[in-house]
Amino acid sequence: IGRNFIYVEEIDSTNSFLLDRKNGVNESGTVVLAEKQTKGRGRKDRVWYSSKEQNLTFSILLYKEFKLFEHLNLINFSASLAVANSIENLYQLRTELKWPNDVLINKKKICGILLESSSQGNKIDRVVVGIGVNVNQSMFQGQFNYPPTSIRIEFGREVEREKLLAEILNNFEFYLNKISTESNYITREWKEKCRMIGEKIYVKEGDIIKNGIFDDIDNEGFLLLRTKDGIEKITIGDVSIV
Ligand code: BTN
Repeated sequence: IGRNFIYVEEIDSTNSFLLDRKNGVNESGTVVLAEKQTKGRGRKDRVWYSSKEQNLTFSILLYKEFKLFEHLNLINFSASLAVANSIENLYQLRTELKWPNDVLINKKKICGILLESSSQGNKIDRVVVGIGVNVNQSMFQGQFNYPPTSIRIEFGREVEREKLLAEILNNFEFYLNKISTESNYITREWKEKCRMIGEKIYVKEGDIIKNGIFDDIDNEGFLLLRTKDGIEKITIGDVSIV
């Protein structure tokens, strides 16, 4: 990961760039990092704000890794674990994971991950993992679905972005390798860092809200919600504690 590295000052969105076949980037593991995104995207068509040169906004291309593509949620988990562990190792801050793929510190969001895929024929051949980490930003403006924070705010001083990026890429590669060799390693580690299991939650997807207890995560990374009618497998949605 990251042997092919593309650095740009400004771009619409690093995810859009790698998804677009016309750009001709086909090397799996390619990383595109931008100092500024003019159309940074979050999950569910939300806007991802990130101030210029203060944070990390980058995307990683996985190309024709068909075995891995059978486990898209685990790729998501690998990315969030990579970010969480990198922050813990470098700055000794305690992180928490929120399903499906947010990294939190002190209940505030430090990182968002957006996994997108594109198919040729009806087979996915391109998966892009977009990662936005709030690093040295100290003020946030705008409307947020979840309260944001940054490493600088939590750690108390500015940190070196290059070091953090290198650590994240290394860790991501480590976890990706685990998907094929020992996939329950990932779900196990993920569950250790998710402090919501056992809690009363609701899951919101569009206008539908489901209530229950966060029972578990299955082997593929789906959320198992215990409702009055039994266990329901949740594949998409925003989770909140009741
Ligand atoms: C979310 O929390 O909703 C996901 C946010 C993902 C943001 C990153 S920044 C790099 C990449 N490019 C984008 O346009 N989005 C992702």
